[in-house]
Amino acid sequence: MTLTQKDIQQLKEKMAEGYLPQWVLTDPDIFRLEQEKIFARTWHFLGHESELKEPGSYVTRWIVNDPVLLVRTQTGQIKAFLNSCSHRGVRLCTEDFGNKRAFTCPYHGWTYDLDGNLIGIVAGNKVFGQNVNKEAWGLRPIPRLASYQGMIFANLDPNAMSLEEYLGDMKWYLDIILGRSDGGMEVRGVPHRWIAKGNWKMTSENFAADPYHVQMTHRSTVEMGITPKDPLYASYGHQVVLGNGHGINVITTESGQSPNPFQGTPEAMWPMFERNLSPAQLQVFRNATVLVGGVYPNLSFISSVNGSEEYKYNHVNFRVWRPLGPDRMEIWVWFMIDRAFPESYKEKSYQAFLRTFGASGTLEQDDTENWARIVEASGGIMARDKSLSYNNVLNYLMGFGNLEPDANFPGPGVAYPTTYTDAVARSMHEFWLDLMTRE
Ligand code: FES
Ligand SMILES: [Fe+2]
Repeated sequence: MTLTQKDIQQLKEKMAEGYLPQWVLTDPDIFRLEQEKIFARTWHFLGHESELKEPGSYVTRWIVNDPVLLVRTQTGQIKAFLNSCSHRGVRLCTEDFGNKRAFTCPYHGWTYDLDGNLIGIVAGNKVFGQNVNKEAWGLRPIPRLASYQGMIFANLDPNAMSLEEYLGDMKWYLDIILGRSDGGMEVRGVPHRWIAKGNWKMTSENFAADPYHVQMTHRSTVEMGITPKDPLYASYGHQVVLGNGHGINVITTESGQSPNPFQGTPEAMWPMFERNLSPAQLQVFRNATVLVGGVYPNLSFISSVNGSEEYKYNHVNFRVWRPLGPDRMEIWVWFMIDRAFPESYKEKSYQAFLRTFGASGTLEQDDTENWARIVEASGGIMARDKSLSYNNVLNYLMGFGNLEPDANFPGPGVAYPTTYTDAVARSMHEFWLDLMTRE
């Protein structure tokens, strides 16, 4: 399947006007093409180095439909393989995580070591002949693997640009979260995961580009006193367009200062932040109540501190929207905390996370409901009509042509002086079309 010249022309025209045709959300052909053109060519978050504590540690993950076995080898290296036996293709390891010296296939018993070498074939010489060539039948490595600040990413495209180049200006903002503390971050517990209705483009957009939804969707948190009453409270700050579809919202307060400096982290940690971050990064971190953003295509994150006493703990989570189709996804959420923080704070932070984000969190459930409703209402004749005769385009006009970037913002990227704008969403769609139409 490809996009026809007519489709491409229409998409370009509509995006240039600040619209998105609704049919791109639920069209199964579009989803097939996205797997090939987007998910097979961009960098995917697989996990954090702290999840692989010692030699033999492993976790199993997915890049959309490709199962991945991520292991720490005897020499401490991290490697990633297609989690599929080279003999007949069986999914080799089905546990979520563990520690092993070798992986034995449940079907015919072929065994692989931590480097993916085939080290055992049941009755090998007898049935495959004297010169059975084990070297040729090891596990198939994922073509590219790279880490940034402990975050492990993979890419199915052997010719992809480097991870650092792909992340670009996003690194500056990720460093505020991942690089502020000595020893970096660690994952606490295991990633939460559950299946929900939704389209990955909309969930990615929700984090990278949409603080506008907060006042309505998360109204219950206002009523509970977790978030402020001012309907504009999530608009104060900047939305920053970062290129390659990445974006972030640096949310602060009307005065530009946070009542909880450095997101309510323990004061004893602040000198450490001052050592590890630049003055401009410190300025952003000191005044932000929320940092919420996305690494294209489907990694999102939020570092937040909420208002009321029992919630005044910074909590950070990273999440992958693993598409299972155009209208369904598996949500994976990693809670992360600075290794250097006191244990008591880590536990409080984890509890604040559980109450807000994660499968049972209040804010999470608010959002999930809307993502389901988008796909529920986008699959019919009117919404999917490609000729747009029902005017089935979505509105991305906020801040379109009536908002100038703020040249005084201290961080890189194109920063707009409010988060109530569709600037990042529009740049995500442009990058989407760029990837979808590349040869
Ligand atoms: S499929 Fe794995 S040993 Fe045969
Ligand atoms: Fe939300």
